Amino acid sequence: MNVDELKTAFAKMFGRSPSGVVAAPGRVNLIGEHTDYNDGYVLPIAIELATWVTWAPRDDGRLALASLQQPGREIEVDLCEPILPGEPAWSNYPKGVAAMLAKAGLALPACSILFSSNVPIGSGLSSSASLEVATGLALLAAAGQDMDRYELAKLCQAAEHAFPEVPCGIMDQAISALGRADHALLLDCRDGSTQQIPFDDPDAVVLVADTQVAHELSDGGYAARRQQCHTAAEKLGLAALRDADLPALEAGRNELTDIEFRRARHVVTEIARTLQAVDALKDRDMPRFGELMYASHASLRDDYDVSCEELDAMVESARGCEGTFGARMTGGGFGGCAIALVRSNQAQAVAETIAADYEDRFGRRCPVFATPPAAGARIVE
Ligand code: GLA
Repeated sequence: MNVDELKTAFAKMFGRSPSGVVAAPGRVNLIGEHTDYNDGYVLPIAIELATWVTWAPRDDGRLALASLQQPGREIEVDLCEPILPGEPAWSNYPKGVAAMLAKAGLALPACSILFSSNVPIGSGLSSSASLEVATGLALLAAAGQDMDRYELAKLCQAAEHAFPEVPCGIMDQAISALGRADHALLLDCRDGSTQQIPFDDPDAVVLVADTQVAHELSDGGYAARRQQCHTAAEKLGLAALRDADLPALEAGRNELTDIEFRRARHVVTEIARTLQAVDALKDRDMPRFGELMYASHASLRDDYDVSCEELDAMVESARGCEGTFGARMTGGGFGGCAIALVRSNQAQAVAETIAADYEDRFGRRCPVFATPPAAGARIVE
């Protein structure tokens, strides 16, 4: 993102220079999928794609929101009135964050805000979370305030539940708020504790391949899985599936429907894999990490039913390449992106093979790019 271009666009739109610039990244999850809303562990990294925000105060008691990706869909909110969800749809993300900050006691600053994002929408790279966290950081900066980053993530998650009404977990907002360059974030979604795990092996790189099959968390599939997990935990007499292990699950199998059992088996094994993956990362054992990624994918595909033909094809295509340690779908699923952990010196060849195989099979190219673990949300200026 070119900050000067964004500032110029701001000046053109609002007739004055911006006072500040903040950025908040998208993410890919290395492992620990569909575990966050089961009180489990996740291990995401922030990526270089991000939402950038410029802002400046105003003196008319209003909040003006505009995005370079949403031309003609600007909106102004009177801060003397309650902030409510509505059209345009994109504005529900920043409006939700503003409403939650107000609810948390922040005197919302009147200001003009311009967004620009290069996180593709609907590709499972957390464009929404990056928009929310960037909004939160900009409004706090405009008010001369700060907030604990995990608290900010939780506030953004609450905004996503209340305004666009997406029943997401905490992972995406947390990594956008807390990411650190050259580190993966181990987050315990039960108590919010975190560990930054160094991920700086020069011989290994993460490739992201976008199926360009749009995924929508607001479609019922995600919510249905949350519900199945909740019901399974309840039937097993547990607060959350985090509290189960495989023997306990087997013992309670008769209590569960086949679908509930399979959903629970994914969650229980995925939580265990995530902790094993952390050990592998600490030991710089990439082959072991890769095996866990393949196992995660198989579990998401067979037990959790959230993969799709395109994601499966990408994982198989990566698996067939020399230099691939492991691959899996990442994020909520039903489309979106796959990731592959590959040897740095073979990354280019693997990326080309994934794109070529994809075109042969589905008749269109897919973007494939490498990403280092990038920085989380930050005040740029
Ligand atoms: C989406 C949600 C996250 C998480 C993942 C699956 O990205 O926003 O909270 O549940 O799906 O791991």
